[in-house]
Amino acid sequence: MSYLDLQGVEKYYDDFYAIKGIDLAIEKGEFIVFVGPSGCGKSTLLRMIAGLEDINGGQLMLDGRDITHAEPAHRDLAMVFQSYALYPHMTVEENMSFALKLAKVSPAEIKDKVEKAAEKLNLTQYLKRTPKELSGGQRQRVAIGRAIVRSPKVFLFDEPLSNLDAALRGQTRVEIAHLHRELGATTIYVTHDQVEAMTLADRVVVLQGGIIEQVGTPLELYDTPANKFVAQFIGMPQMNILPSQLFRSQHEGAVETGVRPEHMALVAHGEGELNGDVEMVESLGNETLVHINVNGNVQQQIIVRLYERPNLRAGDMVGVDADASRLHFFAADGSALRGEG
Ligand SMILES: Nc1ncnc2c1ncn2[C@@H]1O[C@H](COP(=O)(O)OP(=O)(O)OP(=O)(O)O)[C@@H](O)[C@H]1O
Ligand SMILES: [Mg+2]
Repeated sequence: MSYLDLQGVEKYYDDFYAIKGIDLAIEKGEFIVFVGPSGCGKSTLLRMIAGLEDINGGQLMLDGRDITHAEPAHRDLAMVFQSYALYPHMTVEENMSFALKLAKVSPAEIKDKVEKAAEKLNLTQYLKRTPKELSGGQRQRVAIGRAIVRSPKVFLFDEPLSNLDAALRGQTRVEIAHLHRELGATTIYVTHDQVEAMTLADRVVVLQGGIIEQVGTPLELYDTPANKFVAQFIGMPQMNILPSQLFRSQHEGAVETGVRPEHMALVAHGEGELNGDVEMVESLGNETLVHINVNGNVQQQIIVRLYERPNLRAGDMVGVDADASRLHFFAADGSALRGEG
């Protein structure tokens, strides 16, 4: 049995079936990221693991113990929220000590744990301040510190960085990765942000409508998506998907064919596997994204990613070749077809 084991875990809100029998085995020390569109059940599933929502079906095991119906305080988990949820009238030190005081840990041990966590999180010089005297990033680090001092078996994060601006998000993301390397703690992390998911995760869990679409390492999901949903959810800009008959390479049973923007190249108009007109050119400096209406059809718009700066403008006619070795084939039900076909 793995360290944290979800077996057929279900959640109903009255007659709304929110989590539809999730099976997931998480190993000790793994960094797991839940991603998926808004409303797919990421927070619900995390809160069920934390014990903040009842589990209506199935079983949850942690380190060999059945915690399906255990009180949150008896689960040995610590959760960090987007909203930080710090006590505003307490100092950083008091915020970080609070749970340990409740657990009747000795003052000397509390002091030691808080000092060590503060050092890891670069908070030592802020221990006597209250949350309103801190920046958003510092507050989020206090919230993480409060979780660390409890030495939980599993850390749970629900979009911890989404209140921060882009630069601070990037910096805090690196800090969280560093912290995970240092502590080696089993972590489940919910995010909307693909870059966070791809850079932090050992394995990513893609959820949709209360079910798991795929579980895999970031590159497994990128290179071998199990279906059309995962293919288009992972990767920015998203994978181009068109009717299979438009392509030279065919695969038995495929009705749609996908190709990532970076696996296509521009050629002369009329000479491409696909041909069309340029709708828009996005020059981003490091790369150029060329939007093309295949056969003049705006319903069949694709994006080609180039690492040079082509001399192109809207309305130009172009041909596009797809790298035949990087095509993805999808059956009518959206599942990916692989191997010889
Ligand atoms: N207390 C509740 N009562 C009824 N329905 C709820 C409740 N909490 C969540 N839901 C529903 O359950 C589904 C999953 O919600 P959840 O908050 O887990 O989504 P999420 O994936 O975290 O979305 P987001 O990315 O927007 O945070 C949604 O359809 C939501 O409306
Ligand atoms: Mg949520």
